[in-house]
Amino acid sequence: MSRGIEVSDRLKSLLTKDARVVVLTGAGISAESGVPTFRGEEGLWKKFRPEELATFDAFMANPELVWEWYQYRRKIIHEIKPNPGHVALVDFQNHFDEFHLITQNVDGLHHQAGLRNVVELHGNIRKNKCIQCGKKYESLEETIQGTPPECRCGGKIRPDVVWFGEMLPQDAIRHAFEVSERCDLFFSVGTSAVVHPAASLPLIAKRSGAFVAEVNLEPTEISHVVDETLLGKSGEILPYLVKFLKCAD
Ligand code: OAD
Repeated sequence: MSRGIEVSDRLKSLLTKDARVVVLTGAGISAESGVPTFRGEEGLWKKFRPEELATFDAFMANPELVWEWYQYRRKIIHEIKPNPGHVALVDFQNHFDEFHLITQNVDGLHHQAGLRNVVELHGNIRKNKCIQCGKKYESLEETIQGTPPECRCGGKIRPDVVWFGEMLPQDAIRHAFEVSERCDLFFSVGTSAVVHPAASLPLIAKRSGAFVAEVNLEPTEISHVVDETLLGKSGEILPYLVKFLKCAD
């Protein structure tokens, strides 16, 4: 499995317990679990138009369609499990004294794998909220059933995710910037690094003096800036890196 994965001595030497480590993940880390990515040949945005499905205006124009699309994605997520890449990050968390996991994913697979304190920049597809009163719903049982369901206040219920044109949760993005500025080692995993502000985080880490490594099937927008690109599946590369964590103890 590890054949062909090359990790520099510099990166290995940085995997010590006292390193302050940040990992940013994108859709690629969940690809091996069976969650579709957004870009690329098989990506969701090749088959669907984001402006018709992932904006507030789209929801208001066609709430039934948008709700059904999220129900379809929830069904996929409900049936799958974390993969070895997610599991390896739990080993990362247990190894480093300071470890922060920031994700653009809404699938909740990091939590499911056992990670604590995941910073979800784009929300969580398993959760919902009312567009009128803002009430959050973990389960839809208390709502008035419909497509989409309705809140007791009469407002429509929407997925608690960030749509295009919307602000990111302020606490989450503030925390993400802070820890990226002060880390020693930053990993950008399975993200095309084109959607900001998430895509700015590895650049901020680099500018602040951190060693930045990326894990991806192919070079990305930030490959020319990072210190090291590990090409391959995150479900193979991250478990491979775990071996060096153990050695570095
Ligand atoms: P993308 O679909 O843009 O990129 C996924 C990346 O993962 C690509 O660079 C792939 O090469 C890589 N990849 C695929 N499989 C992989 C694997 N097994 N191991 C490692 N890498 C792999 O997804 P994101 O960068 O996460 O936002 O997209 C960012 C945001 O754009 C999403 O959060 C979403 C989307 O529009 C919103 O919906 C607001």
